[in-house]
Amino acid sequence: MTRVPLLDLTRFSVDEEQEYIEKFRSFIRSGQYILGPEVEKLEEECATYCETKYSLGVSSGTDALLLALMALGIGDGDEVICPSYTFFATAGCIWRSGAKPVFVDSCLSDYNIDCNKLENAITERTKAIIPVHLFGQCADMDRLMPIAEKHNLYVIEDAAQAIGAEMHYQGEIRKAGGIGHFGCFSFFPTKNLGGFGDGGLISTNDLELYNRAKIMRVHGGEPKYYHQVVGGNFRLDPLQATLLRPRLKKIDTWTKARQENAEFYRKLLLKTGIAEMLEPNTTSEEIQKSQSIYLPLETQPRHIYNQFTLLLPNKAWRDALRQKLAEAQIGCEIYYPVPLHKQECFASLASSSTSLPMAEFAADRSCAIPIFPDLREEEILYVVENIKNAFSGIKSIGQ
Ligand SMILES: Cc1ncc(COP(=O)(O)O)c(C=O)c1O
Repeated sequence: MTRVPLLDLTRFSVDEEQEYIEKFRSFIRSGQYILGPEVEKLEEECATYCETKYSLGVSSGTDALLLALMALGIGDGDEVICPSYTFFATAGCIWRSGAKPVFVDSCLSDYNIDCNKLENAITERTKAIIPVHLFGQCADMDRLMPIAEKHNLYVIEDAAQAIGAEMHYQGEIRKAGGIGHFGCFSFFPTKNLGGFGDGGLISTNDLELYNRAKIMRVHGGEPKYYHQVVGGNFRLDPLQATLLRPRLKKIDTWTKARQENAEFYRKLLLKTGIAEMLEPNTTSEEIQKSQSIYLPLETQPRHIYNQFTLLLPNKAWRDALRQKLAEAQIGCEIYYPVPLHKQECFASLASSSTSLPMAEFAADRSCAIPIFPDLREEEILYVVENIKNAFSGIKSIGQ
């Protein structure tokens, strides 16, 4: 039995469980098992929550990305820019669309795409950029959008980990998924709005793009059985929509709990003296030379803490910390151990031989600890105590 799991999906109250059972009963009695009113209501509620005009429930976050690319007509011969330090689906979907993923390095301050390195990656074949709002914090869209506009590129926000996250944008505070041509969300159970299975959503403020994606969600048939375009089966299961609707009402309470957990970790870990905050200009050299664990920096007005990621000075210490935490039965995961430009399946891309130093640096040194909303105070104390105890031994390991 894990003492502190990375995530426990079963910690809901008896009342909550009762609510899901009643929703399930009314679902099976409805006879509406494909799309229908529950999906439409969830779409409306998500559009309101994400402050976008339109949204479409789809089968997963992965399919949200693929459908967005297909609806924008991206394919063979095109290039699409994305960060290398992200979950595989971001680039996997570009590849599956027929386009070529072009990887850009990340910033250490927020783990998101480095806009300083963006323009170098743009060629005459570039059609789109997919920034990822990694771990629940938005990429710097204020810097990214003018570059995209200057080069006439589409922008698809991969907001799979960032529903409800907020960013500074043109002097306002805006929600993730509402800035680019499309926003893509995931309802994978580990996400802040997680379902009881796979699910996802795409958002847009453009009616034409919405209509195109809606048609392509059901094989591209419009009217039914008449196809001007090829789409797929990208529908959100209405059972998931039924169960996600009551969850959406709780999302801000849950996100607040995640933020409070992050604050508590910061307070406790800084007090131990073994940790320090990442700063906007912290360099990889400083981190490598230090004897500290670095804690995530908030670069945007609302980080939703889908993950709370520690950064260690070197890989040997990170791996040792992970091992010690595992021995103490504390869940801890590496997001992500291999940056995408180094993945075997992308070996044919020229980028596999290039170096993206910050993506590689973070992949070797990061480690996520439990942050889920129902984490108990004593569990956080136990995690911190174990990090503290482990770290003094770890520091004697050669780098
Ligand atoms: C950044 C990112 N993009 C895309 C996805 C794909 O979402 P899904 O697992 O719902 O297909 C995920 C989720 O795991 C993700 O974290």
